[in-house]
Amino acid sequence: MVSKTSQIEPPSDDKRWRIVQGTMRRNGFARHSLIETLHTVQESFGFLDEESLRYVAGSLRVPLSQVYGVSTFYHLFSLKPAGEHTCVMCTGTACYINGIPKMLQAVEEELGITPGETTDDELISLMTARCLGACGIAPVGVFDGEVMGKVTTEKVLAQIQSWKEAANVE
Ligand code: FES
Repeated sequence: MVSKTSQIEPPSDDKRWRIVQGTMRRNGFARHSLIETLHTVQESFGFLDEESLRYVAGSLRVPLSQVYGVSTFYHLFSLKPAGEHTCVMCTGTACYINGIPKMLQAVEEELGITPGETTDDELISLMTARCLGACGIAPVGVFDGEVMGKVTTEKVLAQIQSWKEAANVE
């Protein structure tokens, strides 16, 4: 018999899983927190992949099929990142007061998209997350899964530029 508080290991030691665990813990790992948990995964990672669905299913003891059902039924969930690269900007309080809004605006202007969208060439998807759990190094961005603290507009635009250049030489 599995105890109500038992936890299974997250798919990786990526810090963002702590945010997902926080949502599940807050809800007592109850099945009814499935949608809220999937929201947290999507906000944190920008998409839902099989690994994350399996993890959520196992943690909440919900059949994987049901998790797939829910995540494909609601259009707001995307099952994989649309773009080749993913840029997540944290809009939590600590990051917000440390300059994320201006940075986000610069990124939106550079890419010509708003959060939740992907560039026409499918190169870059832009997302926001509420708090990535790294407020001590705010403002924080995540670029292809790499957490970057004390991020600046220059650094973000340089990252975007390097993705564009890499795509052009391929
Ligand atoms: S508010 Fe951005 S990491 Fe917490």
